[in-house]
Amino acid sequence: MPAQSMDQLVALCKRRGFIFQTNEIYGGLQGLYDYGPLGVELKENLKKSWWTKMVYSRDDVEGLDAAILTNKKVLKYSGHEDTFTDPLVDCKDCNNRMREDHIKDSKCLHCGSSNLTEPRPFNLMFKTNIGPVSDDDSYAYLRPETAQQIFTNFKNVVDATSKTIPFGIAQIGKAFRNEITPRNFIFRVREFEQMELEFFVKKGNDEEWHKYWVEERINWWVEQGIEKDNIEVLNVPQEELSHYSKATVDLMYKFPHGVEELEGIANRTDFDLGSHSKNQDELDIDAKINKNKESNARLAVQDIETKAWEVPYVIEPSAGVDRGVLAILNESYKEETLENGKKRVVLAIKPHLAPIKAAIIPIKKNDSTIVDFSKDVKDGLQKLGLGRIVLENTGNIGKSYRKHDEIGTPVCITIDFDTLNDRTVTVRNRDTMEQQRVDVQDLKDLLKDLLLQ
Ligand code: GAP
Repeated sequence: MPAQSMDQLVALCKRRGFIFQTNEIYGGLQGLYDYGPLGVELKENLKKSWWTKMVYSRDDVEGLDAAILTNKKVLKYSGHEDTFTDPLVDCKDCNNRMREDHIKDSKCLHCGSSNLTEPRPFNLMFKTNIGPVSDDDSYAYLRPETAQQIFTNFKNVVDATSKTIPFGIAQIGKAFRNEITPRNFIFRVREFEQMELEFFVKKGNDEEWHKYWVEERINWWVEQGIEKDNIEVLNVPQEELSHYSKATVDLMYKFPHGVEELEGIANRTDFDLGSHSKNQDELDIDAKINKNKESNARLAVQDIETKAWEVPYVIEPSAGVDRGVLAILNESYKEETLENGKKRVVLAIKPHLAPIKAAIIPIKKNDSTIVDFSKDVKDGLQKLGLGRIVLENTGNIGKSYRKHDEIGTPVCITIDFDTLNDRTVTVRNRDTMEQQRVDVQDLKDLLKDLLLQ
């Protein structure tokens, strides 16, 4: 059973060093969080798992790592300047601001007053100035989605890789949104990371590819340890679709605060490549949206037989890293009552995502022979490159087990006095708590089997 409440997760994250409020010593900054020693490992492991699946395991996807600061023209032609807004209302009594679609019964979320302003559009993009001169024209945006830099690099990637459709470009990186009401821990924040694939296909094949990517993405989340029953598939109603979308399927997860979007899989048609292409009067392409006088590019591909230029359609699976981390923490958090009546918290996280893969625990803190032996074991396992291995030299085995259960370390390896004689160690499994005596030589294979399964 997942965590019961967000408070349990927030407390665990702070206590053990997964996630901290940013700039806490100065009172914080709303909607922003920092990933601590364990959080950074978990986040990296999740991103690595996505990249392995979406890029390495395929021959039809290439990677990209583009700039965050974005030319304002990109976000003008993408439609974000005009439409990337949320409806904002002010409470005339307590002066708080909130999203109109977050309020219930037309009442202020803070004081309950009905004395609210009419909703008005609030653009979510962060602006910043570029260069030493700060005038009205020298601004750029922090990208609100990683996708736009993929579209503007479309021709570069095609030219450099000779890819033909169907093919995709994948990117993981930061995105920024000036959310009116950031809330629910790392669920809705102002700076977050996205894992996005733009998969370019021939018009007409788009609906089939859309279905394919919905299935692929559900399967990937299940491989990360999310129960299939905890994912709901929502066909976003027409009136709620983003300006670029013909159809969007949201994967909704049962977060502690409610069922909300974990990932969206959109059919963006030829909207983006079309809007970033030079005006179609000057180019022989037929895109739905195309009034661009400022771009010099033709973001299109040539049909091999007819030689006609076509703007591909694009299917976009777009997942939030931070929401992924929250879902995985929630899904793996368990409180168990043991036979002796004691409670234990265990993070039953998949081994490939675990922040620490194994803890090496010398039975005696101050015994240099045992500690040196433990260090050698740690160094040997660390060299496998499977992720972080730690030396847990506290001298308190019970406390070390409790800590590593709580942070999801799949195995603890204890080095004791017998080890020095027979070169065997005790390996304790996080989930079953079973202990087995293993030859030190076999540890590498044991760990590889566990982590590469
Ligand atoms: N390129 C498409 C796009 O950006 P989106 O539905 O706005 O679509 C995609 O965002 C994903 O990014 C969401 O499913 C969510 O996981 C994540 N996301 C969006 N806004 C977020 C926020 N304020 N905080 C955390 N994650 C967010």
